[in-house]
Amino acid sequence: MAVWRLWNVLLTLGCFWQLASAQGLFGQLVEKNADPFLWIDPVYRNQSVFGNGLFNIPFGQQYGKKLYFSGQDLVGNATGVYSSFAAGPEVDLNYSTPSIYRQCNDFLDICYSSSQVDVHFVVFRGLAGFYIRNGPLPFFGDILRSKKVQDETFLQPNGSYITKYDWSDFIRTIDYHGVYGDNVGAWVIAPGKDYFIADHLKQELNLHRESSTGDAVLLNMLHGTHFMTMNSSDNLLLPGKMWGPWLVYLNDGSLDDAAARTRQEYKFWPYPWMDDVKYQSRGSVSGRLVLDTGEPASGAAVFLGQPVNGTTMASGGLYQYTTYADNFGNFKFDAVRTEEIYQLVAWSNGSKIGHITSVHNGTVVRVTKGHETKLGQITWRTQQRRNIFQIGDYDRKALGFKYGGAPYYLFLLERWALLTLSLAGYSQAIGINFTMNGQAFGSLPSLPNDQSVYRSATVAGEWRQLTFDITAGLITRGWNTLTFNVTSLQHNTLGTTAKGAMWDAIILDWA
Ligand SMILES: *[C@@H]1O[C@H](CO)[C@@H](O)[C@H](O)[C@H]1NC(C)=O
Ligand SMILES: *[C@@H]1O[C@H](CO)[C@@H](O)[C@H](O)[C@H]1NC(C)=O
Ligand SMILES: *[C@@H]1O[C@H](CO)[C@@H](O)[C@H](O)[C@H]1NC(C)=O
Ligand SMILES: *[C@@H]1O[C@H](CO)[C@@H](O)[C@H](O)[C@H]1NC(C)=O
Ligand SMILES: *[C@@H]1O[C@H](CO)[C@@H](O)[C@H](O)[C@H]1NC(C)=O
Ligand SMILES: *[C@@H]1O[C@H](CO)[C@@H](O)[C@H](O)[C@H]1NC(C)=O
Ligand SMILES: *[C@@H]1O[C@H](CO)[C@@H](O)[C@H](O)[C@H]1NC(C)=O
Ligand SMILES: *[C@@H]1O[C@H](CO)[C@@H](O)[C@H](O)[C@H]1NC(C)=O
Ligand SMILES: *[C@@H]1O[C@H](CO)[C@@H](O)[C@H](O)[C@H]1NC(C)=O
Ligand SMILES: *[C@@H]1O[C@H](CO)[C@@H](O)[C@H](O)[C@H]1NC(C)=O
Repeated sequence: MAVWRLWNVLLTLGCFWQLASAQGLFGQLVEKNADPFLWIDPVYRNQSVFGNGLFNIPFGQQYGKKLYFSGQDLVGNATGVYSSFAAGPEVDLNYSTPSIYRQCNDFLDICYSSSQVDVHFVVFRGLAGFYIRNGPLPFFGDILRSKKVQDETFLQPNGSYITKYDWSDFIRTIDYHGVYGDNVGAWVIAPGKDYFIADHLKQELNLHRESSTGDAVLLNMLHGTHFMTMNSSDNLLLPGKMWGPWLVYLNDGSLDDAAARTRQEYKFWPYPWMDDVKYQSRGSVSGRLVLDTGEPASGAAVFLGQPVNGTTMASGGLYQYTTYADNFGNFKFDAVRTEEIYQLVAWSNGSKIGHITSVHNGTVVRVTKGHETKLGQITWRTQQRRNIFQIGDYDRKALGFKYGGAPYYLFLLERWALLTLSLAGYSQAIGINFTMNGQAFGSLPSLPNDQSVYRSATVAGEWRQLTFDITAGLITRGWNTLTFNVTSLQHNTLGTTAKGAMWDAIILDWA
């Protein structure tokens, strides 16, 4: 079986001197000033602990079960640190006894081998942009109270949605991402992007609240297939492919500090300390793209990699590089690995060439170590058509249309009509489900009992108001049928069914 390699680098913030000496899972006491270390249980050789004086991770056969940092365990009851792999159903990797791969003055490179991937953790001595979206993860309780309406998307009783895909972004433009709060932060800082799958427009999920356990999950999706057509079981990975290294950075939760660390990491990519001949063998590629009409391919999206079945989105067997041409069509790729023969592909990113619908498909590119491969002027054949009319820039993006580029979390809030239920009173408990033309769009949430109905009130109890969004597809031109279906009406202890709502008003509005 082919073995791939994956490098994690772990650093924690230096000023966190007070943490350390946390009790390891296996009774190991770690000294505050300890050098990077790996400890393997002499009896259960699938149990280990690694870290330095600032943090340590007790590791089992599959998971890093704890992460001691700043005097506390950051994992708690959650699953822990893991790497997973899907070629069919998703499986978490199982490791054999870890080993020290490389030891230097200031770091230790530890290798956990599995039958598919070797996972490395590089622990440095004495070290304890812009972010995707800064906001709270949804509360687990709100997910539990909600109804799953589609792929990890939940409709809350008040009509708002929660979806884990809110925490997605285009991976090649992410500087860093993480989870923070309560004076700790955990960040993924991935300066080189060449080992990630696909092109400029590859999006991935980066964090989320796990809906079955409530865990906050910090992800680094390397070859993810969210937001694309390729089946994850068709993952094309060539033997020896290496992912990383990226940095997993722990700090006191400061965004400014994470941003400063990010700037530092980007400066040092490709990492000089990586002792790997293929990783260090890199050159550059430059050229100028000109349309066959004589105009420069201004601002074009330029891709260097191996498209799979004609699509750059599925390119990920080895390494891929992305950039944009300048106004004159000039482009340059730096730090390109030399072991691959690349194809250069370019397409319009809108603007001055937003009417060009052909793709420049196919300059073959070889790269040599320490040299610049100068491709010179490349002619891009266009469709040679005269435009009659066009709506929207041709740039592979929905930008320019009404909701194009709206935040992920606003999209589902688009609504068509709004059902308002004003209740003059409500006594527990009945269930009511609402449908529009036979399609469910909501149900009465559990409401506190005002005791009015079974105490003979006929004018009012305590007023409540509820609203429900009815999305565009549910209402059609002409007749529509709205049903309120009483789904449960248990007898109360006195054997009566005198309960439910006293309606004040039922209103359907255009939103
Ligand atoms: C670890 O190794 C021990 C002894 O070899 C074995 O009994 C145990 O099941 C292993 N643990 C896991 C999680 O596989
Ligand atoms: C972890 O699980 C235990 C047992 O189910 C529970 O008592 C404890 O409160 C949980 N801790 C956290 C932090 O959720
Ligand atoms: C790891 O082991 C578990 C059971 O111990 C198994 O279900 C899973 O498929 C294994 N994962 C891999 C990647 O082989
Ligand atoms: C719906 O309820 C959730 C959870 O209580 C809350 O966060 C959200 O702001 C509410 N939305 C609206 C539109 O009231
Ligand atoms: C994805 O692969 C699985 C397993 O090979 C197959 O059953 C399924 O039909 C494939 N789906 C698509 C959309 O190709
Ligand atoms: C590519 O197009 C987007 C808008 O679709 C624009 O924001 C971005 O600046 C363009 N990139 C370059 C390098 O021109
Ligand atoms: C590419 O096409 C071949 C032949 O049609 C097919 O077997 C293969 O699964 C495709 N690969 C991907 C990644 O779609
Ligand atoms: C590029 O060329 C390849 C064959 O070399 C073909 O399979 C693919 O469809 C072409 N892509 C485009 C976008 O024209
Ligand atoms: C009523 O709606 C709730 C939540 O939307 C759902 O769980 C339940 O199955 C529905 N009941 C019926 C009888 O349709
Ligand atoms: C109302 O609920 C009953 C089951 O309680 C179901 O048979 C019926 O189809 C529902 N009617 C509508 C319009 O949803």
